[in-house]
Amino acid sequence: MRPNRIDSTHATRVVIIGAGPAGLLLGQLLTSAGIDNIVLEQRTAEHVSARIRAGILESDTVDALQRAGVGARMAKEGLVHHGIELSFNGDRHRIDFQALIGRDVTVYGQTEVTKDLMGARRSAGAVTVYEAEDVELHDFDGSRARVSYRKQGVRHEVHCDFIAGCDGFHGVSRASVPATSKKIFERTYPFSWLGILSDTPPVAGELIYARHERGFALCSMRSTARSRYYVQVPATEKIERWSDSRFWDELRYRLDAPTAEAVVTGPSIEKSIAPLRSFVCEPLRFGRLFLAGDAAHIVPPTGAKGLNLAVSDVLYLAEGLIAHYEHGDAQGLDQYSERCLRRVWKAERFSWWMTSLLHSFPDSDDFSHRIQEAELDYLTHSDSARRALAENYVGLPR
Ligand code: APR
Ligand code: PHB
Repeated sequence: MRPNRIDSTHATRVVIIGAGPAGLLLGQLLTSAGIDNIVLEQRTAEHVSARIRAGILESDTVDALQRAGVGARMAKEGLVHHGIELSFNGDRHRIDFQALIGRDVTVYGQTEVTKDLMGARRSAGAVTVYEAEDVELHDFDGSRARVSYRKQGVRHEVHCDFIAGCDGFHGVSRASVPATSKKIFERTYPFSWLGILSDTPPVAGELIYARHERGFALCSMRSTARSRYYVQVPATEKIERWSDSRFWDELRYRLDAPTAEAVVTGPSIEKSIAPLRSFVCEPLRFGRLFLAGDAAHIVPPTGAKGLNLAVSDVLYLAEGLIAHYEHGDAQGLDQYSERCLRRVWKAERFSWWMTSLLHSFPDSDDFSHRIQEAELDYLTHSDSARRALAENYVGLPR
């Protein structure tokens, strides 16, 4: 078969590339508004629904998922948290979101959000093409765009009005934009997070973010019976070097004594290493192509912002597309990039700040170390400092 031959031609209004939370939520919002769309995903449905990712939802994210009609299981199984704790210098310090700003976050895994969105898409009968290979974007700077892909040896082409690039950091959408048309802002960190999932009860009722001279640690959870823990490791670390017992020892070492003692250990059911990165691509719109979620920006996971930012992009994009189709109003689409970026940069700032506050930097000097300590002391003694953390963590208004 000649590589460029098209075997099958289709048409839709919006082609969504990527079936992560960004692509699936956009699909759900457009389908509910009667706007025809197709999702093209390179992996299998099983792979997409099994990926372990973060698990903290801002209150606006919870509201958005409810309004999108995919909140029923989250309402039953999600754990509402009124605060977080910071552990350093041998003590735990609570940041009480409820008392400081009267809002909460919800613990509900991204894996579960994805499954709920996949279920809703299936029920609506909307088209998702899994295992779509060699996805290519065409003519998004022209009057009508096209996306081509291959499935089981057959080459398809979809004509569309718009393309939503929701294909994550390594996707094809951002890569299809010429380097001269986009500006990249990036910061890498000299460490990664080693995470494990285990069917053990969480060490505490709320998340504990721990700073220790050997490095950061995080005690998180997926439910009252399933824990998620992380420790900071060098960016060059290899997962094979981490047995479960080494992980548990290192985690406990970095926690204050009462917390370390309370940790219930058990076999890991998943173990992975993820690098930390801050990244923004500007703008988010290139003619008929819109980037959303990880395709456009990455935050280090310390502020738990990745999924929440993806949802907020998608809300702006869905609003813009619906106004365009229902009223011929282009304003939402024209302002998409600018509106998203204002929020993105504040989340980038907060995630960078939380990361700088709580991690050990290998090249850090005594001055930086004292600044970190002063910042933590300030947080411990100032309601204003805690309120600033709380309002960013729970999510700034859209
Ligand atoms: N063609 C089709 N699909 C692709 C391609 C491609 N060339 N490249 C990537 N994809 C798919 C991936 O397989 C994945 O399913 O795009 C999807 C992108 O999903 P995510 O990486 O989950 O990104 P996003 O939907 O933006 O979700 C935001 O929040 O907590 C963070 O990083 C975390 O995934 C999370 C994100
Ligand atoms: C998680 O539970 O995976 C998690 C929680 C909070 C974070 C990052 C990850 O800041």
